[in-house]
Amino acid sequence: MKASAIANANIALVKYWGKRNKELMLPQTGSVSMTTDGLQSHTTVEFDLKYPEDILVVNGKEYNKGDEEYDDYVGKFLSVVREITGNQTRCKIVSNNNFPTAAGLASSAAGFAALATAVNEALGMGLDKEQLSMLARRGSGSATRSIHSGFVEWHKGEEDDGSDCMAKQLFTPEHWPEFRMVIAVTTKNDKKIKSRAGMAKTVENCPYYSVWRDEIVPRDIVTIKKAIAERDFRTLGETAELNCLKMHATAMTTNPPIIYWNAGTIDIMHAVMDWRDEGMQCYFTIDGGPQVKILCLEKDALEIANRVKQFPNVEDIIITKPGKGAMVTDEHIF
Ligand code: DP6
Repeated sequence: MKASAIANANIALVKYWGKRNKELMLPQTGSVSMTTDGLQSHTTVEFDLKYPEDILVVNGKEYNKGDEEYDDYVGKFLSVVREITGNQTRCKIVSNNNFPTAAGLASSAAGFAALATAVNEALGMGLDKEQLSMLARRGSGSATRSIHSGFVEWHKGEEDDGSDCMAKQLFTPEHWPEFRMVIAVTTKNDKKIKSRAGMAKTVENCPYYSVWRDEIVPRDIVTIKKAIAERDFRTLGETAELNCLKMHATAMTTNPPIIYWNAGTIDIMHAVMDWRDEGMQCYFTIDGGPQVKILCLEKDALEIANRVKQFPNVEDIIITKPGKGAMVTDEHIF
């Protein structure tokens, strides 16, 4: 009952920001993302009677019952797995990310997509890709999208029990191989407010939330799907950048306010807009953290990376493209 899996982080082009059911992890809206190439989480899980309690080790750090990472995330996820399978055996999970954890680089998406894939294999659950995306969702909403490769849509579903809430692939990575994201890491520190808490507060009291949910996201999903289908970079970039700003506008106008950006984030946002004015094809998107993801095409990616390198507050730069979905691997970490 041991298995390992690898999954990549995904970056939303139309963001998920808010749940309608916290226990079942059902979102208020749909969302659209790109699964990245190489921003990966490698996870091994072993269910065995030799473990009196679950053991979780992420990037070399152990978490136990009583730690937020275990109680609110992995512990809850394992309860769901035990409810579905009826198997109460405890397990050891070791997971390594090759990118900054919990700083707006979707580490929970890669982590839970890998964990769901490994658990499915270890316990012989026999789930297909769409069922796997539903299982991954119970760990972290955005993880539902990392099960698939390339461009992905998470359908919010209509049912109260979440039975139609899953991610489906829109296009494989080969559909748009020139698409790139240049990620500027402006800090490797953990963020203060996790997306989960930030979006819950936003749903609770942002005065503009209903506009985001009922008007902006449904419209942006239609626009961005068409732009991806037609490889229309300009429409995609404009829609994704504005969608990101509108998401952050809801967070900022929540009480107490949630501001994920630091000085480096804002410097790069201005630079991207200036470069665009000069004729460069580039747009930005930002998640629940201070990192900036610059959307561009292969022909400009290195030039953009070189320009971003000049900023004193940029600690790291990662260039990524449409990548693979979650998969089982024979390589066990322990
Ligand atoms: C801003 O998936 O991390 O990255 O479902 O509570 O685990 P939980 O939240 P999470 O939120 C991601 C929010 C986002 C936008 C997105 O990825 O769509």
